Amino acid sequence: MIEVENLTKFYGPHPAIKGLTFNVNQGEVVGFLGPNGAGKSTTMNILCCILPATAGTVKICGFDVFEQSLEIRKKIGYLPENPPLYPDMTVTSYLEFAAKIRGVPNNKVAASRDRVLDKCVLKDVRHRIIGRLSKGFQQRVGLAQSMIHDPEILILDEPTIGLDPIQIIEIRKLIHELASSHTIILSSHILPEITHICKRVIILNDGEIAAVDSLEGLTASLNKSERLLLRVRNSSNGIADKLQTLDNVLSVNAEGDKEFMIECAMNSHVQDQVAQMALEHSWGIEELKTVSMTLEDIFLKLTLEEKGVDA
Ligand SMILES: Nc1ncnc2c1ncn2[C@@H]1O[C@H](COP(=O)(O)OP(=O)(O)OP(=O)(O)O)[C@@H](O)[C@H]1O
Ligand SMILES: [Mg+2]
Repeated sequence: MIEVENLTKFYGPHPAIKGLTFNVNQGEVVGFLGPNGAGKSTTMNILCCILPATAGTVKICGFDVFEQSLEIRKKIGYLPENPPLYPDMTVTSYLEFAAKIRGVPNNKVAASRDRVLDKCVLKDVRHRIIGRLSKGFQQRVGLAQSMIHDPEILILDEPTIGLDPIQIIEIRKLIHELASSHTIILSSHILPEITHICKRVIILNDGEIAAVDSLEGLTASLNKSERLLLRVRNSSNGIADKLQTLDNVLSVNAEGDKEFMIECAMNSHVQDQVAQMALEHSWGIEELKTVSMTLEDIFLKLTLEEKGVDA
């Protein structure tokens, strides 16, 4: 549905994105993940026909972003980083205005407005002035305007930025519901966000794709080793050194003198040997468990490895 090939954008001499290639299938929910300045908003602006690219091609439903942008605009709803709201308008009048500029026929404007008011749970604030709404509700109005022309594709740039935890949960729930009937690209540098909503992740770093994979795939490909956490009751010298001597143990990190993070070969069942060793030396096991890698670990590993920093 969305085919991006070799997409490059220079701002003056500075390359913001460099040769991005990826696809998004119909009905997919894809997360763009990357640190500040990675090129997420730039890529989204190009997909939404707001910014011309320097090189490369983007095809959406078979239409070319540069040649047939009017067709594409009908199919895409966009929530930019800063929602394009008019703070002096009421919610209803703004949404009617958005419907008209999106080319919704006059006799369907009211129905479209009511549909998005309903979807984004805005009915109770429909007559309020936008500028006086809370940030979360303003974000909902931004989301509502992006859906006013009933697009198949939604592109949402950091939809939960600046919201409090309760509002974040509400917006996430809303996006979840939208996911059943839309193709969605969502950007974030907040990792749990992506794990909650997206099936597939594109990790951008410094204008390049660091990884494209499903969450499970990313975890599996990076999980060449597994980690064990050992916490003991009795501190004694040389625990880390002793653990290091076990077969299949790759490294041991001591956190204080009672807690140890043991990195070992995948499926090597090192915990059996650790438990035995702990018994032999009367360390007193408080806790011994496998620690799975989080998306956060993967993200740091991918983005920092390129910079030559140890994650
Ligand atoms: N209009 C512009 N003029 C010049 N440089 C720009 C412009 N917009 C973005 N950039 C630069 O391009 C790079 C990518 O920016 P972009 O906004 O796409 O990143 P991002 O991943 O969305 O970051 P953030 O998480 O901070 O929103 C950055 O180095 C940024 O400074
Ligand atoms: Mg951005």
